[in-house]
Amino acid sequence: MEKFVVEGQYSLNGTVEISGSKNSALPVMAAALLTEEECKIKNVPPLRDIIIMEDILNTLSVKTDFSPKNNVISIKADNISSVSDDGSLTGKIRASFLTAGSLLSRFGYAKISLPGGCSIGTRPIDLHLKGFAKLGAEVSKEFGSIELKAERLKGADIYLDFPSVGATENIIMAAALAEGATTLSNAAMEPEIADLCCFLNKMGAEISGAGTDTIKINGAKTLHGACHSVIPDRIEAGTFMLIGAACGAVTVKNVYPEHLLPVVSKLKELGAEVEIQGENISVKNTGKIKNADIKTLPYPGFPTDMQPQFMSLMTLGSGTGVINETIFENRFLQVGELNRMGADIKTEGSSAIIRGVDRLTGTRVKATDLRAGAALIISALCAEGTTEIEDIYHIERGYCNIDKKLNSIGARIGRL
Ligand code: EPZ
Repeated sequence: MEKFVVEGQYSLNGTVEISGSKNSALPVMAAALLTEEECKIKNVPPLRDIIIMEDILNTLSVKTDFSPKNNVISIKADNISSVSDDGSLTGKIRASFLTAGSLLSRFGYAKISLPGGCSIGTRPIDLHLKGFAKLGAEVSKEFGSIELKAERLKGADIYLDFPSVGATENIIMAAALAEGATTLSNAAMEPEIADLCCFLNKMGAEISGAGTDTIKINGAKTLHGACHSVIPDRIEAGTFMLIGAACGAVTVKNVYPEHLLPVVSKLKELGAEVEIQGENISVKNTGKIKNADIKTLPYPGFPTDMQPQFMSLMTLGSGTGVINETIFENRFLQVGELNRMGADIKTEGSSAIIRGVDRLTGTRVKATDLRAGAALIISALCAEGTTEIEDIYHIERGYCNIDKKLNSIGARIGRL
């Protein structure tokens, strides 16, 4: 298993180009299943999760052509052989379940292996299934798979008990070819939802209200191919901004600042210097981080995907900060690893209490999930001595060449 070896306490200074959003590219790739015509998707990040999603489409005999060097993937779902995969791949990434809505909508049938949980939570899909049932699908769970059947889906009024990102995306894709109108209330408002709806409307769908908590979808008879460039990855951008606040001065390029308001606001509250210039944001370490409280919420609240990274920053801040993680039930896996580096963090249920310490020291740590791994990189960059981060495949799921990008602005990260 590959690992990063990080020499700490080098001051970083420079600009980092932000890649396309993983969490936008994945549902957009699934939406391409709604038409038999070719779709061209640009600004797709060459990440492991994207390659696995491409493999999943290929198991459905969907034609794909991904060129990682120019981040463009073309997808043509004109002769899908079986609308169920053997499950060998779907278990690898949860986002594979996002093909359910499109397959059900276009073919009236889908059989997908139940997505597993992951380290941050059980990750249920009950809201997805309730939405499909409201649209008229017959849902059955057996032998580790979900089977979905429907003559033709019919539009319905659906209320989501929780503004789930994945459920919102899956239900929109299912409603896109349903007969009649669907209103989705208490929908997720993340920017990735608006990006997916922008792509679907280019395909001929009739969707309004994306980005608000009420989305209306008028079902279309068929959808045609389209070309789309996904939005920048706001979580990759936020992670590099945190690194600037912790270790020097970092400018992130090609971002949408309006997607980063909670991150900018919290960084300023903690005492970092933040400057927004068009599609660039510069963040500087001011030498004094004053700890504050954080509560993760659905968008436009503070993003859970930035929680571990802020925890890292606060381990060296002054005073005490409390983080309340309201989205996932087990997203403090980085705590044990950070404490091994000298941090002083205690967890009580969904809260973590971080008491600032003067120094962190390098040691051997393990990445347990994508964002916890990013948090360990931030702490390793600030720690005295050398830190070895194992299981970096978790990190590479969401960050393209993070070691190269950091070394280009003064970090010392080796890969073994
Ligand atoms: C998406 O996951 C993102 N993944 C996650 O990013 C992100 O953390 C999450 O949204 C929240 O913003 C992708 O977009 C591929 P949810 P998703 O459905 O859709 C509960 C990363 O680091 N829930 O909004 O799975 C669920 O248990 C990843 O890039 C149900 O109870 O998130 C969780 O507690 C991690 N029933 C909460 O909702 C359901 O049917 C939020 O889940 C669905 C979800």
